[in-house]
Amino acid sequence: MVDSSKMSVEEIVAHCRQADGDTAAPPDAPSAATTDDTKSSAPASPSKPASGPMDRSAMSVEDMLAAARGESKPAAAAAAGDSESSASPPEPASGPLDRSAMSVEDMLAAARGQGKPAASPAAKAKSKPKPKAKAAVAKPAATGPKDTASILAAARTSAKPGPIPKAEAAARAKASGKPGAGKTKIVAPPMPERPAYAQVAAPAAAPAAEDRRGFIATVMATFLGSALAVGFSSLALTNLLWLLGLARFMFPNILTEPPTQFKVGFPDDYAAGQVESKFKAQFGVWVVRDQYQGESQIFALKAVCTHLGCTPNWLEGEQKFKCPCHGSGFYKDGINFEGPAPRPLERYAIRLSDDGQLEVDKSRKFNEELGQWVDGASFYSA
Ligand code: FES
Repeated sequence: MVDSSKMSVEEIVAHCRQADGDTAAPPDAPSAATTDDTKSSAPASPSKPASGPMDRSAMSVEDMLAAARGESKPAAAAAAGDSESSASPPEPASGPLDRSAMSVEDMLAAARGQGKPAASPAAKAKSKPKPKAKAAVAKPAATGPKDTASILAAARTSAKPGPIPKAEAAARAKASGKPGAGKTKIVAPPMPERPAYAQVAAPAAAPAAEDRRGFIATVMATFLGSALAVGFSSLALTNLLWLLGLARFMFPNILTEPPTQFKVGFPDDYAAGQVESKFKAQFGVWVVRDQYQGESQIFALKAVCTHLGCTPNWLEGEQKFKCPCHGSGFYKDGINFEGPAPRPLERYAIRLSDDGQLEVDKSRKFNEELGQWVDGASFYSA
C-alpha cells in the first residue's frame, strides 16, 4: 500500500499513468511500462475500447489536472469502469508538496510528464518552510518547565543548544559551586559617573513667601476668574456700600467748632501795648492791651477783615494789622486807616472769670461805628 500522503506530484502522476496502463493493459503487463508503451498497448487491449480514458491524447487538460490532483474521476475514466478508480490510489488532501501553491504551468507540466515539475518561487517559498515548521514544533525529548536562565545558558553553550529544564539548570549551577545555586541573579552594571559639564544643579527650594503668594494668586484667580464669583463679589460690595450709607444716615451732621467761650490768661500776663496772636489760629482772636480814648483796656479783636472777610496779619514792625487780600490796614486798637476796609475791626465780649482769668465770649460782638465799644462788656479795664 502506497502512502499517498507522502507522494509527490510526480509520483501521483506516475501512479495515475500506471493505473491507466493497468486498466488498458492485460493484468500481466508490467507496472513500470513507459508512457509510450502504454499508449501503444492501450488500443491492443481486447477489454478496453479504443476511445477509452487511457488515451491521454484525447484527455482534456482539465481531466489531466483532475487526475493529477485526484479530486474527481475523469469523465472518460468513469466511463471505463470502476476498475480504474479502484486501481488509482486515493490522494490525501495534503501531500508532501503543497499543490495549492503550484502554478497552473507546474501542474500541467507534471500532468504531461515533462519531467520534475519546477515549483514556482511562490510555491517554493510556501512549501519549504512547512517541513521546517513541523520540525521546529517537534517536542523536545526533555520534559519539565523551562526558565529564562536555562534557556539563555543553553543558547550560549554549544554542548546542548536550546532550553533545558529547571531541574537540570539547578543541578548545573550546584555542580559549578557558584553561590545562589539554582537562581541566576542578573546584576546591572553601575552607571558611569556624570561628567562635570553635565552636572545638573538641584533646583533651589522656593521660599515659603513665594509659595504663599502663588497659593493666594491661585485662589484669587480661581475665585475671581469665574463669572459666578464676580457676580457674588459685586453683590457683596453693593450690600456693604448700602450698609455704610445706612450707618451714615443714622448719625446727623455735627459741625465741630471751638467753644465760643474760652480763657486767655490773667490780666497781668499782658503788657501795655502788647498784641497776643497765639489765639488767632484756634479761635480767630487777637488779645490786645492798648489805649482807647485815653483808657488802658484789654480787649479781644475779631481776626476778620471788614472788607471781604479775609484774615489780616499783625505786623509787629509796622505796629498795624494788614490784610493780604486788598491791602486794608488797621491800627493796634482796630481802627481802619488804609485800604478798602469800610469800618474798624469788631470786638468780642471779654470779662474777668471767677478764677481771675480773662474769658472771651465770641457769642457777643461789638462794632465801633455803632458806638458799642463804650460798652463795658467789650473790654477789661487794666
Ligand atoms: Fe481785607 Fe479786602 S478783604 S482788604
